[in-house]
Amino acid sequence: MKIVPSILAADYLRLGEQVADAERGGAQRFHIDVMDGAFVPNYSLGIPIVEAMRRGTKLPLEVHLMIERPERYTESFIKAGGDLLILHQEATPQLHRAVQQVQAMGKAVGVGLNPGTPLNTIEDMVEDLDLLLLMTVNPGFGGQKFISSVLSKLQRARALLRERAPACELEVDGGVDMTTGPLAVAAGADVLVAGTCVFTHPGGPGAGVRALREACAQGTPSTL
Ligand code: DX5
Ligand code: ZN
Repeated sequence: MKIVPSILAADYLRLGEQVADAERGGAQRFHIDVMDGAFVPNYSLGIPIVEAMRRGTKLPLEVHLMIERPERYTESFIKAGGDLLILHQEATPQLHRAVQQVQAMGKAVGVGLNPGTPLNTIEDMVEDLDLLLLMTVNPGFGGQKFISSVLSKLQRARALLRERAPACELEVDGGVDMTTGPLAVAAGADVLVAGTCVFTHPGGPGAGVRALREACAQGTPSTL
């Protein structure tokens, strides 16, 4: 199980320090949320932050592109330092072409599905993916409540990947904390993205990563 802090919830005046602390706490890579004010009702991070993160850590960087027609910017985000690009199924009618563009540049690629998007929309391309992201909130903001109805989609996604793409990672993003993280892992997730619960932990982000890992190691609470 991998824990991937989402820096959307970081204190940007202390970003380098917080990233180093999360790394010491056992973060396996970092998640950078890019929002364009069109695909989602918010703006967030962009190319300069990816470049700065590239200088600030040796860990892989995953770039979550919550933007329309992400194929327009895949090259820019790879040049900025992205190691894994996550594109949204809902954001382009040329999804498979966009996936191929990333692969042609030698980088890893994932596809994200909003909570309301059925799994079968990507069923026929999972063999081509390094990662499948199931959003557990509607994308656009940090600090939202985990949508627990996604858990049954997670179980079905795990079964699909077991059958057709065993090497593909299954990631969840949104509202992941010490209670919901273990539920997602029990349903089949092997990568947890976590923003608020890591960066607002009273002991700092490193302690937040450790606390989330311990909660998941202890197993599943019986109710949400
Ligand atoms: C939401 C973003 C998430 C967000 C998660 O649109 O994609 O990555 O940062 O934040 P938390 O963990 O606070 O829900
Ligand atoms: Zn994200």
